[in-house]
Amino acid sequence: MPQTQILQAEAQPRKDRTPFQRYLPEIITITSGKGGVGKTNLAINMGISLSRRKQRVLVLDADLHLGKLDIVLGASPRYTLADLVEGKQPVEKIIMKHPSGIDILPATSGELDLIDADDRMLKILSESFASIQSLYDYLLVDTGAGLSPTVLTMAMGADKVILVVTPEPASVADVYAMIKVISSKSPELPLILVPNRHARLEDGVELHKKLNLITQKFLKTNIYYGGSIVEDNAVRQAVIRQQPFVLEFPNSQATNNLQMVCHRLLKFPAQEFEKRSNIFDRLREKRKEIDSA
Ligand SMILES: Nc1ncnc2c1ncn2[C@@H]1O[C@H](COP(=O)(O)OP(=O)(O)OP(=O)(O)O)[C@@H](O)[C@H]1O
Ligand SMILES: [Mg+2]
Repeated sequence: MPQTQILQAEAQPRKDRTPFQRYLPEIITITSGKGGVGKTNLAINMGISLSRRKQRVLVLDADLHLGKLDIVLGASPRYTLADLVEGKQPVEKIIMKHPSGIDILPATSGELDLIDADDRMLKILSESFASIQSLYDYLLVDTGAGLSPTVLTMAMGADKVILVVTPEPASVADVYAMIKVISSKSPELPLILVPNRHARLEDGVELHKKLNLITQKFLKTNIYYGGSIVEDNAVRQAVIRQQPFVLEFPNSQATNNLQMVCHRLLKFPAQEFEKRSNIFDRLREKRKEIDSA
């Protein structure tokens, strides 16, 4: 598909939904045990790839380090949810419409961390979000790394969690720790492993196999395989050019691998519509659970 067409492509509502169901996007949180493993790149490029498959995607930037969005997209947010809570801007103004077809909701800023947001704030956010959530099929939540309350809340509030892991032993050990905590708090939550930066696809498959054996044995938890993305210079080059790699290098191996990750995700059973809910209502619930743990 030529790029102009991709940029103009308007996602169609899915046919399998009643009007009520269309109000609730599926929430997928992308996280990792260790930092710098490729979460933000995955969230953005996956969002673009899904939008090319006629899915309407909102990426919620829940990472405290806002600068990362600039790096991957070459675009800085003008406003964040702090402006909404303070009544300075309506939610429509806060959403950044990127020409690649995805929308971005910059959630955190120096002034407002969602976890510190009090109940009144979360209620404002929930009501504002209710007015726009029908516009999306997927809400991809890009988090920071590690077991912070913000990351845990975002993971536990999701319908599915994607865990990004690299071959480094520290990354593997940290993702195991993450699986342990999330699965003990939310045993039903599907955890999907996406190995990144391996030399070969088979190495990612192998890592999933080994890790899954260990989590099955010691945690009684199954982790799903979401597909791997190999180490590819195209990703680094795209980051330097401040462009998403799927657009800058559409024929690269990383893009090819990412298409498979999206393909698998779309084939994975979607969360039942009755079980979906507003992300900010979930944050309220989950935060209480984490606080009382
Ligand atoms: N498949 C890949 N091949 C080559 N380099 C990669 C790949 N994936 C990620 N990288 C490199 O890793 C860097 C970090 O990626 P990214 O910012 O997406 O990680 P992150 O997990 O979001 O980091 P943080 O934890 O700081 O938010 C990128 O700038 C890129 O250079
Ligand atoms: Mg990041």
